[in-house]
Parts: sequence; structure tokens; C-alpha cells
Amino acid sequence: MSSNYKSIDARFMEELKQKNDIVDVISGYASLDKKGNTHWACCPFHHERTPSFAVNQGEQFYHCFGCGVSGDVVKFVKEIENTDFIGAVRILASRAKMEVPENNFDSEKAQEDKKKRDAMAKIMLDSARFYLSNLYSGDSRAEAHLQYISNRKLSPSTVKKFGLGASLDFFGLPDYLAGKGYFRQDLIDSGVLTEGKNGRLVDSQGGRLIFPIINALDEVVAFGGRLLEKADFAKYKNTKETMLFNKSKTLYNINLLKKLKRKQAIQNVIIVEGYMDTISLYQAGFENVVASMGTALTKEQARLVKRYSENALISYDGDFAGQKNNLRGLEILKDEGLNVRVVPMPEGLDPDDVVKQGKDAYQKCLDSAMPLVDYKIHSLERKYDLKRRKKSERSCPTLWA
Ligand code: UTP
Ligand code: MN
Repeated sequence: MSSNYKSIDARFMEELKQKNDIVDVISGYASLDKKGNTHWACCPFHHERTPSFAVNQGEQFYHCFGCGVSGDVVKFVKEIENTDFIGAVRILASRAKMEVPENNFDSEKAQEDKKKRDAMAKIMLDSARFYLSNLYSGDSRAEAHLQYISNRKLSPSTVKKFGLGASLDFFGLPDYLAGKGYFRQDLIDSGVLTEGKNGRLVDSQGGRLIFPIINALDEVVAFGGRLLEKADFAKYKNTKETMLFNKSKTLYNINLLKKLKRKQAIQNVIIVEGYMDTISLYQAGFENVVASMGTALTKEQARLVKRYSENALISYDGDFAGQKNNLRGLEILKDEGLNVRVVPMPEGLDPDDVVKQGKDAYQKCLDSAMPLVDYKIHSLERKYDLKRRKKSERSCPTLWA
């Protein structure tokens, strides 16, 4: 086994594995079917339609007869969560409510990284709490944020669910964090503060409405901040890429999707572009929604989706097929084994606009979702204004202009 095993207390590892039965753990990621002594599933690491992924409970071992991957519970978590050995150990330890022994990580570098990561995660959480408390603090500067939220028809319980907050100025956050004993460099590296002129630290999101971005482990990893004023350019600003935040590996709302999966099977995942699309759909009862945050979809995002459902519904703004990168994104979803369908949108509207006209209006769009090839033809037809009326029954009829 890996040299890491030597450095983490052998007894700890034994207990960790004993408290994380491989069948229990894997059934959180794939639906296992017991036949004789073996549990079977479609392999979560490659695309297939008939199960060749076998889990042996007695041996606490998995093996895929299709793609050849195999290992123990730690290796499984490491691979499926896209993390390293220590990362997998942490996930399993938290699952079993065990304390990971400190100072046992193999290298000083790993220890330092862990410390840094933990400090940054605390800073993010503290900042999220600060923004949140601003919103309902009664401070008159928060009125603009509250007004904006109300204009966009978000209820207080939705605001709470998504942890929306308010930055009121550039100095509130640095002042607040200063009292908490963080290292200056960690504050800068976490992305929440920026070094301004004359070296003074300022809130990177100064004055904006705050959308916390939370990962599947319920950690706040970044913020999206929206300008309250009308602006076509850079209306959103996201936390820079950090040890915690890699935009192309993250999906907005994956934390609530994970919670939803614990309650019920997820038929399909709706993938939208924006924060507001996500929140409005969720509020209207379409809880199976995540956002790619405006970028072309990546393999990592596709894999994240695949963990929760086999079926993806792309619900992008109407003109998205005109952009080559977007179509490439859909190919990536297919390559990862997802069934992809595209939800047609009325010209010039996004899912947030449509769902504001009523839940049914958006449901109609969902009902007319179509395979990618059909969608390409459909958008060409629309573009050249061909057969528009004949096709009207399959595409959000009441909404087409
Ligand atoms: P859109 O431009 O479609 O905005 O960007 P939106 O979501 O409809 O926003 P509202 O309704 O005007 O508030 C889609 C997503 O792309 C990212 C954000 O994640 C946004 O939600 N984006 C967009 C940025 O990161 N920066 C930008 O300047 C714009
Ligand atoms: Mn919008």
C-alpha cells in the first residue's frame, strides 16, 4: 500500500476502515445490487449500461471487470472525490465521527497545506456569517440589498436557505476579521480581502450582494458578488481561484443537491448558467438544479452531476447553442455517460425570467426538453424563422413571441 499508511497510525487506519464498511460507503455513490456474496453496480468510474463493478463485503474490496479499477474503501473515496489520500482519510473520518490524528501526515508540506486550508475555510465561513448578519442588521446601507432581493422576488426563507448576504462597504469585513487573529497572508490568499493602495486590506466584494458558493462537504469555498446597480459588464465578481475554489470543478448549489439526494432519488439534474437562475428555480420547487456559473462545462463538473443522477437537463439562456464552447460542454457531459437533453428557452429569456411568469411556464419548457441533435435543428429553424408555427406545440407555446 501507499507509504502514507506507514505515517498514519496503523491502528487508526484499521479503525477507520472498520467503521466505514465499503458497501455502506459505496452505496452513497452508486446503487448496489446484492447477488450472492457480491454487490454489483454500474461502474461510477466509467460509462456502462450493465453492471460490472463488484464490491466484496467480506474482503472490503471493489473491482470493476469493465475498466479494471480496484481497491479498498480509502482508494474508492480518493478516486471518486478527486482528492488525495489525506483528503479521503478526512472524509471517512468525518463520516465515522473520528478525530484524525494530527502530526501524523507524512510530510511537513502536507501538514502546512492542511493548516492553510483549514484557516482559509474558517475565514470563508466567518466572512459568510458577517455578510449574512449585515443583511438583517437594520443598518440603513443594507436597505438597497433588501430592496434588490425583494425586486427579484426572493422570499426570506430562500435567502436564508442560500445564505445570501450583504457587503455594505470596503472596510467592514477587514475590521471584523482583524479581531479574529487570522494571518494577513491567509486573509489575502483566501480571496476575501484584497490589498488596496497603501497596503490597506479591503473587502474584495465591497458593496455587493453576496452569494456564498458551498461545496458538497458544506464548506463555503467562494463568493459570487452582484452589483446592485444595472450593469452589463462584470455585474458579478467571484472570489479568485484559491486552494479551496476552482471554478471549473465546482457547481453552484451542489450542497443542496446532495441533501436532496439523501431524501429522494434524483430523476434528473437541471444545469443552469447563473446564481439567480438556480435560486429562482429552487424557490419555485425545482430543487434539482445546479449552476455552472457562466463557464463552459468541464469533465469534473460532469462527474459531479453524474454522482447524483444519470440525466442532465441543460437549461441555458436561449442563445447558448450559438457558442461553440457550450456545445463542447454538452459533448463532455455525454462523454461522461450522462443522458443529455436541452431545455428550449423563449428568445432572450433565462430560466429565472421564465419561472417568474409561473411555475407552469418553466415546467412547459422542461416538458419540451429535447436531445441535443434535435435542439440544434430546432435552433436553426428558429434562427431562420422556418416552420415556427408547426413546431410550436413542442416548445413553450405560450411564451414564443
Ligand atoms: P448571466 O450574465 O446570464 O447573468 O451570467 P444572470 O445569471 O442572468 O444574472 P442576473 O439575472 O442578471 O443577476 C450567468 C452566470 O455567469 C457568471 C455568474 O455565475 C452568473 O450567474 N458571471 C456572469 C460572472 O461570473 N461574471 C459576470 O460578470 C457575469
Ligand atoms: Mn438572469
